[in-house]
Amino acid sequence: MVKIAVSILSANMDKLDEEILEVTYGGADFIHIDVMDGFFVDNKTDGEFMMETALKNTMLPLDVHLMVSNPLECLEKYIGADRITFHVEAISENDFEKIVNRLHELNIKVGISIKPNTSIDEIEKYIDKVNMVLVMTVEPGYGGQKLIPETLKKVKALREKYPSLDIEVDGGINEETSRDAIDAGANILVAGSAIFKNENREDAIKVLR
Ligand code: DX5
Ligand code: ZN
Repeated sequence: MVKIAVSILSANMDKLDEEILEVTYGGADFIHIDVMDGFFVDNKTDGEFMMETALKNTMLPLDVHLMVSNPLECLEKYIGADRITFHVEAISENDFEKIVNRLHELNIKVGISIKPNTSIDEIEKYIDKVNMVLVMTVEPGYGGQKLIPETLKKVKALREKYPSLDIEVDGGINEETSRDAIDAGANILVAGSAIFKNENREDAIKVLR
């Protein structure tokens, strides 16, 4: 069964605690926390505030997505996460080893992500060392963008090669595109605006699933 990771990037930050409770009771499988540093992507978010608020208001596993230029330096801020995903574009092979070792010590699962223009060849050598691959279906940085259909070809190719790999898609997932993403082989869907623009979060989550 496909899992839904609700991105709180599009939630109302003034009442983030309530928003998190609503999607928790509405049937989300993960809370997805988007950390942006203003360098790797233009936008900046307060990841620590989102993390702290999530830890206080939900028992759901926290799915942290680091869109930062130096992931190794900020892992400690996200202790308590179920999984931390970082971008292959932001790391060297040496960093990869260090990040994975540190995450293992912290008992946090490992995810690696690729931007829309990054080929799956770039992550091939890491796949057997990670728990999940996140294929970005929009350029990282902002919520509410349109899914780039070509990115789903990468999902399909990964699924053919790795039948039991967790493959997450992130960006532009809504009522219309979720079907294509699932058909391509994604088993974890991140959704932000599609959830928070709907007054009824439970309905929104059901529709995506
Ligand atoms: C984009 C973030 C996404 C974003 C998705 O850089 O990684 O998680 O919140 O938002 P929607 O679902 O609105 O495309
Ligand atoms: Zn994300």
